[in-house]
Amino acid sequence: MSGSHDRLMDSIYRRQRHIYDLSRKYYLLGRDGLIADLAPPKGGAVLEIGCGTGRNLIAVGKAWPNTRLYGVDISEAMLETARMSMGKAGMADRATLAQGDACSFDAEALFGRATFERVFISYALSMIPDWRGALVHAARHVAPGGRLEIVDFGQQEGLPGLWRRALFGWLARFHVSPRGELPGAISALAADMGGFPHSRTLYRGYAVRGGLIRI
Ligand SMILES: C[S@@+](CC[C@H](N)C(=O)[O-])C[C@H]1O[C@@H](n2cnc3c(N)ncnc32)[C@H](O)[C@@H]1O
Repeated sequence: MSGSHDRLMDSIYRRQRHIYDLSRKYYLLGRDGLIADLAPPKGGAVLEIGCGTGRNLIAVGKAWPNTRLYGVDISEAMLETARMSMGKAGMADRATLAQGDACSFDAEALFGRATFERVFISYALSMIPDWRGALVHAARHVAPGGRLEIVDFGQQEGLPGLWRRALFGWLARFHVSPRGELPGAISALAADMGGFPHSRTLYRGYAVRGGLIRI
């Protein structure tokens, strides 16, 4: 799976990455709220899975200056942009970026550590075919007492049906499928591994926020 999915992501983002941050600002909603709520402990480690252009990690680095930043993404094209942007932001020495599949990356091998105080996934689960596998894999990397946080497209339940159909049709062209079962999957995962789950909709269902605190 990983072999063809990385090529697919590279093909989508090879050119898109140059306009990605500017264009996504208007429709990947809820990312900054997630970052503001992260509140990692001083000196803590923050991992973004599906880190894309590094836009979120840079915002985390600015909001929480004493953190160590880690990012993994399946697309080398996106990582190339992320490395450049993080360098420009003066964060190269506190950030480690690596290519890997959200469902199977080896954190020890890539980052020299197995757990992180905060792990987050922003608008990536909707692009990962085995999103449940990615969710479980992400939770495994949360340190005890740490948090997993997620933001992604919601089910648009508070918005007109026509809007929902148009948005879902448009997203499908980019291999994006909003995961209606995400809140249930988070609760099941928290029950399974020991943790406190949460989830809520944002902007009348445009987006969904969820996550868990690991015991
Ligand atoms: C819509 S972008 C979101 C990027 C960033 N998180 C943000 O909020 O701007 C989705 C990202 O997930 C990455 N991605 C998709 N499938 C992945 C997988 N299986 N493992 C790791 N990253 C993946 C893509 O390459 C892309 O960079």
